[in-house]
Amino acid sequence: MSFRIDIISLLPTLIESPFNASILKRAQQKDLVEINIHDLREYGQGKHKQVDDYAFGGGAGMVMLAQPIFECIEKLKKERVYDAIVYTTPDGARFNQKMANKLSLLNNVIILCGHYKGIDQRVRESLITHEISIGDYVLSGGEIAAAVISDAIVRLIPGVLNDGSSALTDSFQDDLLAPPIYTRPANFKGMKVPEILLSGDSKRIDEWRNEQAIEITRSRRPDLFS
Ligand code: ADE
Repeated sequence: MSFRIDIISLLPTLIESPFNASILKRAQQKDLVEINIHDLREYGQGKHKQVDDYAFGGGAGMVMLAQPIFECIEKLKKERVYDAIVYTTPDGARFNQKMANKLSLLNNVIILCGHYKGIDQRVRESLITHEISIGDYVLSGGEIAAAVISDAIVRLIPGVLNDGSSALTDSFQDDLLAPPIYTRPANFKGMKVPEILLSGDSKRIDEWRNEQAIEITRSRRPDLFS
């Protein structure tokens, strides 16, 4: 069974390109993942297909209407069972590798991209199962966050990466940052590759990489040890 991601967005063109190149593209071609992008505007009502309105109580910024979001999600839910309905928002839980790992074990995931001031609170309370932020900064919309989350999930799906162990040696998979890596030539403009990596001694190389990973994590991200 392949993994399915349905992305609901007011700016579908903004999110198409990351899925049409490289690993994400190949994953779809291999039928390991199906990614569908839905234009929320199609679910808006009236001549202008309204999707937003002013906030009750006043204040700057528009709020995404509950009605188009409900209609779009209800339509999708009639077609299959969803394991997670994610909303991308700066006030969500901070995304990390553990969340990506967990989401990659599911089958059908909806990602709703936030815009303007955000969505009507009633959608959050009645439909959304996961509220996710990709970091402590504010983006113009949730599309880039949805692409980040999808990419982090899809590369973990078995068969997506050619080298089965590759995802496991990524930074963060063992709460350590990745060690330095080198490729040919062994001497580039006088800058030499550490001797140990040319030794062919895989046990010592693993030890060296682990030591480097610990050292780099200690200096850059000591919080990962706690
Ligand atoms: N939308 C705007 N900023 C965001 C963020 N940091 N994470 C997720 N969605 C967002």
